[in-house]
Amino acid sequence: MNFVCENCGYESSKWLGRCPVCGSWNALREMRESVKKEERKGLLVNLAEIKEEKEERLKTDIEEFDRVLGGGLVKGSLVLIGGEPGIGKSTLSLQISLMLINKGFKVLYVSSEENPSQIKIRYNRLSLCLKVNYEKFYLLFSSDLEEIVSQIERIKPDVVIVDSIQTIEDKRIPSVAGSVTQVREVTLTLLNLAKEKSFPIIIISHVTKQGLIAGPKVLEHMVDVVLYFEGDINTDYRILRCEKNRFGPANEIGIFEMQEFGLQEVKNPNFLFLPHLREEVFGLTFVPLSEGRRIIVTEIQCLATPTYFPYPQRVVQGFDIRRLSILLSVLDIQANINIGRYDIYLNVAGSLYIKENACDLGIVCAITSAIKKTPIKKLTCFLGEVGLLGEIRPVSLVRERVKEAQKLGFNRIILPKENIPIFFEEGLEVIPVSSLKEVFEILDFDKGR
Ligand code: TYD
Ligand code: MG
Repeated sequence: MNFVCENCGYESSKWLGRCPVCGSWNALREMRESVKKEERKGLLVNLAEIKEEKEERLKTDIEEFDRVLGGGLVKGSLVLIGGEPGIGKSTLSLQISLMLINKGFKVLYVSSEENPSQIKIRYNRLSLCLKVNYEKFYLLFSSDLEEIVSQIERIKPDVVIVDSIQTIEDKRIPSVAGSVTQVREVTLTLLNLAKEKSFPIIIISHVTKQGLIAGPKVLEHMVDVVLYFEGDINTDYRILRCEKNRFGPANEIGIFEMQEFGLQEVKNPNFLFLPHLREEVFGLTFVPLSEGRRIIVTEIQCLATPTYFPYPQRVVQGFDIRRLSILLSVLDIQANINIGRYDIYLNVAGSLYIKENACDLGIVCAITSAIKKTPIKKLTCFLGEVGLLGEIRPVSLVRERVKEAQKLGFNRIILPKENIPIFFEEGLEVIPVSSLKEVFEILDFDKGR
């Protein structure tokens, strides 16, 4: 007998109230042994004997989706799409089905959450601009794994979509649908089926912030591709993020906008996250952020208000708060700014999340500009990691970032000296810097109030 954490997949031989790895309470569930223990024979081969097979891919022609997958759905692969309820997973998977049917593929859509009329309404809404051949579209309303498998055998589809994995049940296992045991076993069966019959299966999975339902974390190592559909439910923008891909680059993102008639691709995200290059205001900087192979120039806003309390507020959106503390300490010591006297509110525009240090300089300058109430000259971009000694360290993908910023009309870029020399187009003022002190002199921060 084994216990598994529903949140992070940690396994333990005894029950624990709190998971020692992710710290969530009451998340360990009993996992019964697999019903069938098929014997698997090992295989010993010499690398030279293995024939290289180029993987066959089905393109959906939803470019943002195909690109995130590395060029389309690989035959025989199992793709997991995870996301919070209401984010648009069913909408996306129905749109994928429509595009595939339109291209002549046979699709089996297994739905165990919605009823036929709900699907039909959504289908009509999404297929307004498409002439779709209904006959190639099979819908199965069932949560019984056995039935799903037998229908797959009968229909022989080119693609299967299962919405959602948490509601599918293998009757031979004595635990309820959605439990770790069920989710694992069902996924394993589907995985074997996909490999055996060589068609792709997309499985949808809910994640809740509390990790109450067996989350995709326990499935991540089993499937070939892990995609997360993210975004703020209150805004229309959705980001499809690739966390793992056995057939292509990970970390790739696709951007969509939820509209009345489904998800629309956003091909040039820069105009989305950079709605208007504002007038010169203080507390505002721009950074070319790298998301996978894509560069997005985004806006960083900061507000600094004097505080009279011993514990100043640090409110951040879209950036790691611990990294912010480090940068604030650097400002305190290296730039002699009494940071403890201010409440700091920092926001990265467009519900993006900055994970890389290459944007440090932009963040530090936004904060300083807010504190000193000194605006930064329009059309300036920032690039550089800030070290603990106030030094500006080199970053990756400089040429791509600079090119993208220039394409958008930025004409001045402040970047690490160590990243020079690089080739630049004309009309761009490149300012190489090696320390915060230099940057602040260039930006006239010391003249500020
Ligand atoms: P849904 O795909 O059902 O989310 P999930 O499967 O992840 O739970 O989509 C949820 C939201 O999307 C719902 O609130 C309505 C909205 N939506 C649109 O705005 N436009 C559309 O064309 C469709 C189909 C849905
Ligand atoms: Mg759904």
